Parts: sequence; C-alpha cells; structure tokens
Amino acid sequence: MLNRVLPLALLTSYVLAWKTFVVPHTDGQDDTPALLTALATGNYSANATILFAKGTKYNIFTPVKFPVLNNVEVRIEGNLSYPDDIATVQAAVGKSGFPGSWFAFTGGNNVTLRGSEDPEWGWVDGHGQAWWDAQQQTNRPHGWAFSKITNGVIRDMKLWKPVAWNFATSGSKNIHAFNNRIVAVSSTGSFPFNT
Ligand SMILES: *[C@@H]1O[C@H](CO)[C@@H](O)[C@H](O)[C@H]1NC(C)=O
Ligand SMILES: *[C@@H]1O[C@H](CO)[C@@H](O)[C@H](O)[C@H]1NC(C)=O
Ligand SMILES: *[C@@H]1O[C@H](CO)[C@@H](O)[C@H](O)[C@H]1NC(C)=O
Ligand SMILES: *[C@@H]1O[C@H](CO)[C@@H](O)[C@H](O)[C@H]1NC(C)=O
Repeated sequence: MLNRVLPLALLTSYVLAWKTFVVPHTDGQDDTPALLTALATGNYSANATILFAKGTKYNIFTPVKFPVLNNVEVRIEGNLSYPDDIATVQAAVGKSGFPGSWFAFTGGNNVTLRGSEDPEWGWVDGHGQAWWDAQQQTNRPHGWAFSKITNGVIRDMKLWKPVAWNFATSGSKNIHAFNNRIVAVSSTGSFPFNT
C-alpha cells in the first residue's frame, strides 16, 4: 500500500513545484497593490512565473518593488501603463519609501525579465511625451532597476516613450540582455529628453 501512495505524493509535489501567478487587473484601478499583496506572501519568490497576461492593459499607477527572487521569470505579455499625468508620477517618486525606480528588483539568482515578441503587446508605456513637451525634469521616474541579481536575463522588453533612465543593473552579475527595444521618439518635435 505504501509503495503505491509514495510515488503519487512525489508526483503531486513535483507538479506543484512551479507556480504561475497571473497579475490581476481591475479596470480604472491601480493594479500595483494587488501584485504587492501577492508578492508579500512569499509564494512567488522562488520557482515561479509572475505573468502580466497578454490581452490585459495593466495600470501600474504606483511603483512595483519585487522581493528577492530565485528561479523566477517575470513576463510582460500584457501592456503596462504608467500614470499619464505628470503630477501623480512626481508625487510617487518624491514620496519617502520610493524604491528608486518604477520597477525595482532587489536581488536574487536566476531571474528573467522577459517581454513579448507580439508587436501589439508587451509594451510598457511611460507617457514620456508630456514630460518632453513640458521639458519637465523634476522627480522623473527611473524605469527598471534590475539590481543585485546573479545570473539574470533581460530579453524582449519593449519600452514606449519612457520618461527617463530605462534599465539599470547595479550590483548584478552575469546578466544577459538582448532583443530589447526602447522607443523614445517624440511625435511633437520636442526633445525626447531621456537620460
Ligand atoms: C500562499 O500559499 C499558501 C500555502 O502555501 C496558501 O495557503 C495561500 O493561500 C497562498 N496565498 C496566496 C495569496 O496565493
Ligand atoms: C525551488 O526549486 C529547487 C529545485 O529546482 C529546489 O531545490 C528549491 O528548494 C525550490 N525552492 C522553493 C522555495 O520551493
Ligand atoms: C532558472 O529559471 C528558469 C525560469 O526562468 C527555470 O526554467 C530554470 O529551471 C531555473 N534554473 C534552475 C537551475 O533552477
Ligand atoms: C500596447 O501599447 C503599445 C504602445 O503604447 C501600442 O502601440 C499598442 O497598440 C498597445 N496594444 C494594444 C493591443 O492596445
């Protein structure tokens, strides 16, 4: 009897080992708080995929700080949007506790940040045009801090009109970055001040 039960138990734990968390979305709301609540459980800090799903337009109206991650893939298959008004972003950047970037990784091993190869999806829209038009440079948000990661990959990411600094890899080792696109093209003739 035990001989039969044991393999089943092993199979079950094997199947449960990899977890996928689909980031939830609510129309018109900031999607960051629900993501942060899920990350705070620790359930997706190891052996997990954190998925921004294709077909969803996420509102990332406040910054996202990831916990230390091990064997985790963050996949951006939906579209992500910063707030489109400058003052809201400036307030978040100026607040104490701002993690330094709009998307902040804080460490770990074997972490992949991956976008989408679908031309219509996987874009992170920073709404930089309004900032460029206003020549606004106060409390500009840095984009992605891929910090303190050992063995990391940044691939297929697509940034649309980012406000300022795009990717940083401070304290990281053995990072492979490829096939990422940054479209910082002004459509009004204003200078896309982006560094
Ligand atoms: C986290 O995992 C625990 C068990 O491992 C489970 O009870 C709990 O509901 C999970 N929480 C979330 C938010 O998934
Ligand atoms: C993650 O998976 C590895 C095997 O790939 C295992 O050694 C480790 O214990 C797992 N960690 C967690 C928190 O499940
Ligand atoms: C590293 O993470 C990937 C997911 O991005 C996973 O498929 C792979 O098994 C991990 N490697 C190890 C050694 O756990
Ligand atoms: C995703 O965002 C990009 C950049 O803003 C946009 O060009 C594209 O049309 C969006 N995709 C969808 C399906 O709305």
